[in-house]
Amino acid sequence: MSEPLRIALAGLGTVGAGVIRLIETNADLIARRAGREIRIVAVSARNRGKDRGVDLSGYAWVDDMVILGEREDVDVVVELVGGSDGPALSLARTTFDAGKSLVTANKAMVAHHGLELAAKAEGAKAAFKFEAAVAGGIPAIKGLKEGAAANAIERVYGILNGTCNYILSTMEDTGRDFADVLGEAQAKGYAEADPTFDIDGIDAAHKLAILSSIAFGTAVDFKAVGATGVRRVISADIAQAAALGYYIRLIGMAETEVDEKGERRLFQRVHPHLVHRDHPLAHVDGATNAVVAEGNFVGRLLFQGAGAGDGPTASAVVADLIDIARGDIGAPFSIPVADLDTAPPAETGHRTGKAYIRFEVADRPGVLAEITAAMRDAGVSIESLIQKGHGEPGRDDTVLVAMVTHEGPESAISEALRLLEGSESLAERPLVMPLIGE
Ligand code: HSE
Repeated sequence: MSEPLRIALAGLGTVGAGVIRLIETNADLIARRAGREIRIVAVSARNRGKDRGVDLSGYAWVDDMVILGEREDVDVVVELVGGSDGPALSLARTTFDAGKSLVTANKAMVAHHGLELAAKAEGAKAAFKFEAAVAGGIPAIKGLKEGAAANAIERVYGILNGTCNYILSTMEDTGRDFADVLGEAQAKGYAEADPTFDIDGIDAAHKLAILSSIAFGTAVDFKAVGATGVRRVISADIAQAAALGYYIRLIGMAETEVDEKGERRLFQRVHPHLVHRDHPLAHVDGATNAVVAEGNFVGRLLFQGAGAGDGPTASAVVADLIDIARGDIGAPFSIPVADLDTAPPAETGHRTGKAYIRFEVADRPGVLAEITAAMRDAGVSIESLIQKGHGEPGRDDTVLVAMVTHEGPESAISEALRLLEGSESLAERPLVMPLIGE
């Protein structure tokens, strides 16, 4: 067997401890598959004294994690510190400057600085791998880079945030409200350090920006991802969706389109959707993640599994280490940075589809007529409409009107809502959620 692959681990939280446990537990199997031993030689974290339930005595402790990659006895740095900037980014830069490889689970850093870091890695002929950054234990990046490599990917979408999926599916099962269930997701450890990243769709947007780049061969463009989270979804939406045969899921959706000038544009959006009960994503419950990729030869692929947690995330980190041990350096985004396309963002108004629109309105004569007149004037055709008792808890003066539109342009819905802006009949801004069919 060849020389061991020598690892330095930065960050010893849940995932860091999971990586140590996995490498120790499956050491023989990993060495046989990788063709060499994967050996942790050094570790670093903010707090040396903390009990992490793993024995660190066999590893060198390094106080300044940023210089881990500069050690002579280290081949690969595993960054599990988190945060788009700060020590994680400094560590990544110094690691590539030292000509070493980096494996990370840090989606925020890859979404914001992935291109710069990939260019550095390519320049250093080092590996930069981040399977664990997207959908935890699911090999979605490998699936796209390797299994589906021969296909033009037409669309990639999925459930990319376990916290939101847990909240939505628990609201669905129990009829409980959003705020109540959020606390539970945090207690179970799914949520980010800042849970607004989860519930406002930012975490899913980080992951989607990375997936899009690999799927479409375009430069990572996190700023172009439109992100809306799940804060405004209420139990009544879930009940209305169920009555129509749909489940509400926070979906990250990306596809390319060609505009009227023949230019390729990239659509990227994270938004709650109504997913038809016969679509596989409708049945992805709890903190599970799922990624769908549609290729021009392979058709629809579905990857599903745990999107967070120490075991699944460690599994993805160590799979990247095994690749590196085997000599797979490859381009981090599948295509070298210099050859990635720069696709401008697509105009969302060009998109067509069905949508669910929920209004919270005053309960008095003429309100429904006002809403349907705006729909008529904007050219939105209504497929079904339900008016239900009271809407949000504690709002006895309003009623909920939920409608599903026929297939049509999103721009028409925006226009209808613009016509209704400032209307005294509306108790709050309407909520629009696109539908995904079977
Ligand atoms: N906070 C993330 C989620 C975990 O809820 O999916 C890993 O990215």
